[in-house]
Amino acid sequence: MSPEQPIAILGGTAGLGRALAMRLVAAGRRVVIGSRVKERAEKAAGDVNKLVGVELASGDLNESAASVCDIVFFAVPFAGLYQLAKALKKVLKSGAIAVSCVVPLESDVGGTPEYLEPSNGSAAEALQATLGNEIKVVSALTYVSAHALEDLSNPVDCDIVVCGEREASQRVMEILSLISGVRPLYVGGLKYSRITERLTVLLIGLNRQYNSDRAGIRFTYI
Ligand SMILES: NC(=O)c1ccc[n+]([C@@H]2O[C@H](COP(=O)([O-])OP(=O)(O)OC[C@H]3O[C@@H](n4cnc5c(N)ncnc54)[C@H](OP(=O)(O)O)[C@@H]3O)[C@@H](O)[C@H]2O)c1
Repeated sequence: MSPEQPIAILGGTAGLGRALAMRLVAAGRRVVIGSRVKERAEKAAGDVNKLVGVELASGDLNESAASVCDIVFFAVPFAGLYQLAKALKKVLKSGAIAVSCVVPLESDVGGTPEYLEPSNGSAAEALQATLGNEIKVVSALTYVSAHALEDLSNPVDCDIVVCGEREASQRVMEILSLISGVRPLYVGGLKYSRITERLTVLLIGLNRQYNSDRAGIRFTYI
């Protein structure tokens, strides 16, 4: 993939998607931030460019962003995933790679968030079922803290486990390796997303116990 090719980040107006946009723009990649509202996407792109100090982000509706990119990150809450995926199925480029960062979580009031297992096993598998086999879904970033990503003054001290079809995953790993401090690791097929999505619950618990907002994971001896 040429470094000139833009990368779409749907739901990139806040949280994880916006933080990822900042890191990719800081690494010199063009990014199209997607939103349900075009003005919100344009505003987020302007903010990212200003914060990073380069003009590499643009903003558009989710559908338009997804239709021009070979790699499309889904960084929206699980509640909106199905509707978004259904709408995008018609516009995604043939052979596009969809990267699911989505974790199905439900918070009980004052308690710890629970993983809400989708009927397909994971959010990434639900996305694959909705988009169909022409689109390769890869799961990544599901347990990576948006706070760690948006803090550009520090490297993201974290291994990112990537799963899905091997070649598509390698392409996603090339992008993730642009993020300072990140080591992407390939584990195998998309079924591993059932584990990587659940790791988020573990890390949220650790953040609470140790008063952090960016607990991360490093694997040893590999
Ligand atoms: N935050 C983290 O640290 C983190 C870490 C790992 C994984 N994740 C996962 O990444 C995903 C995004 O998390 P987040 O914290 O960034 O979420 P968020 O801030 O609540 O939402 C991100 C963006 O998604 C869009 N959105 C909200 N509801 C939507 C809906 N029903 N349908 C379509 N788009 C919707 C909004 O953009 P517009 O209103 O502009 O469309 C919003 O700015 C989640 O699945 C989360 O589990 C988050």
